[in-house]
Amino acid sequence: MSVHSSSSVKRVTTHILQEMKDSGEKISMLTAYDFSMAKIVDSAGIDIVLVGDSASNVMAGHETTLPITLDQMIYHASSVVRAVKRAFIVVDIPFGHYQGNSSEALRSAIRIMKESGAHAVKVEGGSEIKESVSRILSAGVPVMGHLGLTPQSIYKFGTYTVRAKEEAEAKKLLEDAQMLEQCGCFAIVLEKIPAALAQKVAESVKIPVIGIGAGPDVDGQVLVMHDMLGITQEFKPRFLRQYADLQSIMTEAFQNYIKDVKERKFPTNSESY
Ligand code: KIV
Repeated sequence: MSVHSSSSVKRVTTHILQEMKDSGEKISMLTAYDFSMAKIVDSAGIDIVLVGDSASNVMAGHETTLPITLDQMIYHASSVVRAVKRAFIVVDIPFGHYQGNSSEALRSAIRIMKESGAHAVKVEGGSEIKESVSRILSAGVPVMGHLGLTPQSIYKFGTYTVRAKEEAEAKKLLEDAQMLEQCGCFAIVLEKIPAALAQKVAESVKIPVIGIGAGPDVDGQVLVMHDMLGITQEFKPRFLRQYADLQSIMTEAFQNYIKDVKERKFPTNSESY
């Protein structure tokens, strides 16, 4: 079903996302980084498109999300914005552009909003970035928080294993979620934490909580598009459900094309002028 079949498409807003939480309707969210893929995922009816800094991994081939720049994020985001008619579009502020300096955080958020046309920004962390979050919100820019496994801090964690299994870290995560809500964030992503803790967070804040590796009892789910489509095959954490095997489908298509070219079967007369 295409949600674009009628001429008037109702845009998803923070208000609609809040209504979805309040009514118990689960929120669907996927990443996208370019025009063509964003167009397909929006037509399929996704609620939120995240222009994630996972672009650093899946688009640029870096090992971590740290190297991607603000200019590169704006490039990806503006390509997505040109494609998406219905979904709410959130953009990650990349590493080094909001931590420890709230003025820079505000400048980064404003650049993303002005230059890409996206609808909100996402930042990783809790109490340590409170000032940056408040400053961005004071400019009227919606902010999505991100707690648990926060990939921009991978060198602090040293590993991509499940976070907040210990009581002290779980307590801080819950307090951080409540702090982000009090600051005015419109939603929070929880990555790779125990399902019971994620449920507790989702029940203790009024804003939508979107999980990735955080179990079923949150208000919505997010996955990285390239992982769920099976384009990336080397990344297979327990939480990832692969909905297609595009790597095999694409490899077969490329091989068939190469064979046809080599064997002079492409193009035929009907494919020529
Ligand atoms: O960058 C990203 O793709 C993300 C998701 C994993 C939530 O932050």
